[in-house]
Amino acid sequence: MTMRDKLDLLERRRAESEQGGGEVRVRAQHDKGKLSARERLDLLLDEGSFVELDRFVVHRSSDFGLENEKYYGDGVVTGHGRIEGRLVYVFSQDFTIFGGSLSEAFAEKICKIMDLALRTGAPVIGLNDSGGARIQEGVVSLGGYAEIFLRNTLASGVVPQISAILGPCAGGAVYSPAITDFTYMVRGSSYMFVTGPNVVKTVTHEDVTMEKLGGATTHSEISGVAHFAHDSEPACLQAIRDLFRFIPSNNVDDPPRGAGTDPRDRRDEALLDVVPDNPNKPYDMHDVIRRVVDDGEFYEVQPDYANNIICGFVHLGGFSAGVVANQPAVLAGVLDINASVKAARFIRFCDAFNIPVVTFEDVPGFLPGVAQEHGGIIKHGAKLLYAYCEATVPKLTVITRKAYGGAYDVMSSKHIRGDFNVAWPTAEIAVMGPKGAVDILFRKEIAESDDPTKAADDKIDEYRDKFAHPYIAAGRGYLDDIIDPRDTRPRLIEALDALRGKRDRNPAKKHGNIPL
Ligand code: HXC
Repeated sequence: MTMRDKLDLLERRRAESEQGGGEVRVRAQHDKGKLSARERLDLLLDEGSFVELDRFVVHRSSDFGLENEKYYGDGVVTGHGRIEGRLVYVFSQDFTIFGGSLSEAFAEKICKIMDLALRTGAPVIGLNDSGGARIQEGVVSLGGYAEIFLRNTLASGVVPQISAILGPCAGGAVYSPAITDFTYMVRGSSYMFVTGPNVVKTVTHEDVTMEKLGGATTHSEISGVAHFAHDSEPACLQAIRDLFRFIPSNNVDDPPRGAGTDPRDRRDEALLDVVPDNPNKPYDMHDVIRRVVDDGEFYEVQPDYANNIICGFVHLGGFSAGVVANQPAVLAGVLDINASVKAARFIRFCDAFNIPVVTFEDVPGFLPGVAQEHGGIIKHGAKLLYAYCEATVPKLTVITRKAYGGAYDVMSSKHIRGDFNVAWPTAEIAVMGPKGAVDILFRKEIAESDDPTKAADDKIDEYRDKFAHPYIAAGRGYLDDIIDPRDTRPRLIEALDALRGKRDRNPAKKHGNIPL
């Protein structure tokens, strides 16, 4: 054979490796509204940037007739590419080959790119569409999964790891995404469960659909397993690209600067009227965030889960920052189990990847109740406290209104290494709200008075005058300043700029023991 003949053979084999599991299965994939593994990579990565590795790898099993059914690539496309010019490693599972199920060879391909990503400080993006462990390979497949889980864990906090769920993901196929930083799903075509509806029916006799058990809505609104749900695969893949505008490539890089042109010294008149005069009236904290950040742009994380707290990425004067904000419009912004866990994980991501945390605070406290106590609000609330305490990135806090009780301590207070703590003049900082405090301190005295209603109102007024303002905290230096709300943006940007060189360390240790 001449060189030309050999090149022809190579070309034929390369073309064959791009056929997936054959025309019929590819058509079936498209008929379900799903893209192929390679079409997904085309949308995810900068045009022409994908470099494939291991396209000729095949499985090594010979049971159940598998020796006669081999496909180049063995059901997963792996390699590296660019997002806005930045290097990322990727794998894209091909459901048309053995249902995207994971063989030993398939796992080795994923492990290879994960090892390269870790060595080069590049993020890993996994596009998952898989029936789980390849049943014909038995324990060898389980071993392959474990190799991936180990690498996910070792890479956690070193390089960002992103998972898109783009089809049914069962068994082992969900545990790798669960360890990664952010999980994206697509409504109507992606599912995650440890065991599917049939097994559920056998074991617990519950009748449940795939959608209800583990669809995008379930995981983005009820379980909190997914961070994002999108209506289509292109929208989902574009959202992953957008995330990279805020996050760095690894734990020693700085996050990328925003490209916006919003003036650093822009004041916002409308911020004067956001907080209602009546302290018990709700308002939407999104209004505050959007008015303060660059170009009103907010990349919200878990926007449909635990809405009493808001988390997401912004740019402020071009600096990337993670925003954590109580939401007075939902449950009065109270901290409960789900809100604590949601924000704790977000803060730990920001801290691992050098992204400053900006907290907007209006919180009446932790949610009372039997369900919360029995559900372990003590340990879950402690996760949020722990996450804020251990974070060494710049921590900036703006108290817009309430900062009561333990929640005052938790929400990035000065005492837990807050770097820049300010309040609006509307702030109320105390152990509890006026009514609750008066009930406890003066119940007997009020009951015995001639006019209990008036006596209670007088005491509430007295308490409010004494505590429902920011001047005691500012007098102690717990607040660095009390600011005009209109100046919030310029003040935060100045502080971020001044804190750029911040270096802080925690004591040397193997690792802490966050209350899980
Ligand atoms: C081998 C598999 C497979 C698997 C699917 N296929 N899952 N092959 N191992 N795990 C193959 C099918 O035989 C079929 O081959 C093709 O993929 C498409 O599958 P269908 O069933 O026709 O597709 P669909 O109706 O869309 O259903 C998709 C599905 C279903 C929901 C994913 O296939 C399914 O339930 N699969 C099994 C899921 C599962 O229990 N996996 C093991 C989990 S245990 P042909 O040739 O017809 O195209 C596990 C352990 C790890 O993962 C634990 C670590 C912690």
